[in-house]
Amino acid sequence: MSSAEDPRLELSEQILKLKQERRAVILAHNYQLGEVQDIADFVGDSLELSRRATEVEADVIVFCGVLFMAETAKVLNPERTVLIPDPRAGCPMCDMAPVEEVRKRKAELPGVPVVAYVNTTAAVKAEADVCCTSANAVKVVNSLPDERILFLPDRNLGHWVQRHTDKEILLWDGYCPTHQRILTQQIRALKQEHPGAALIVHPECTPDVIEIADAVLSTGQMVRWVKETEAEEIIVGTEVGMIHRLKKEAPGKRFIPISKLTTCPDMKRITLEKVLWALQDMQHPVEVPDEIAARGRRSIERMLEMV
Ligand code: 13P
Ligand code: SF4
Repeated sequence: MSSAEDPRLELSEQILKLKQERRAVILAHNYQLGEVQDIADFVGDSLELSRRATEVEADVIVFCGVLFMAETAKVLNPERTVLIPDPRAGCPMCDMAPVEEVRKRKAELPGVPVVAYVNTTAAVKAEADVCCTSANAVKVVNSLPDERILFLPDRNLGHWVQRHTDKEILLWDGYCPTHQRILTQQIRALKQEHPGAALIVHPECTPDVIEIADAVLSTGQMVRWVKETEAEEIIVGTEVGMIHRLKKEAPGKRFIPISKLTTCPDMKRITLEKVLWALQDMQHPVEVPDEIAARGRRSIERMLEMV
């Protein structure tokens, strides 16, 4: 079908043309809508996107993901323009760790280092000793010399880390509402329907779900795992956007979502229309105050050096 007959195709073509004129690069997270992933220059998990953000040469980064990810790109690229097509694309888990509460807890735990999951505001990253993502949380924690660690905000990822370290992990009571709703009952029903299927889950899932998984992986690690496994059918315990990415990377395999409703409404705020408008109007620039950016950058760069 030509772009004259298919308005989605026309939108994509306009985006690609304008992207060149603006000298822009489009970065997208694995949970983005399929059509947004398809026009991106790079699609990845939080760690891969942070790394890619350090290698960008374009004048403008259009970040298709949620705000904390776009903020991370801005902190790593203070001289470049970073645009987020919808600034309301937040992360509820991020909001569960307000900076004032983090400062209060730090004051109660003198000498205890803070490991902040990247799913935090730039202000919280500025309070942390080091950041981590789901791909490297265990490695980051085990690289620290300290025996007690304050880990925030995800209690489920923190619990997963605790299983892989002798250190004492002090948890924060945050969680991802999307992953929290993935239930073992749903998984058991899917396993009955697909008896030979493997189960991969994200470490933001609850400990009982993690317990029955064949592998616990970041979204980027899932891409590599499905290519290497002999399993032909795979139940995917994370946000449904992942299925689009996995189908593209391993086209011969069958991917089964937990449910069509396992979705992150904030990730889905980014649409092709908003990506086009972002490039047309140079909206919405992500700004991080210099002092917060400088301290946040230290925590992110420390993570990138460790792993
Ligand atoms: P990944 O780093 O595995 O892509 O996870 C990011 C995220 O927000 C998961 O909910
Ligand atoms: Fe935040 Fe969960 Fe959405 Fe990831 S899936 S961005 S943790 S709400």
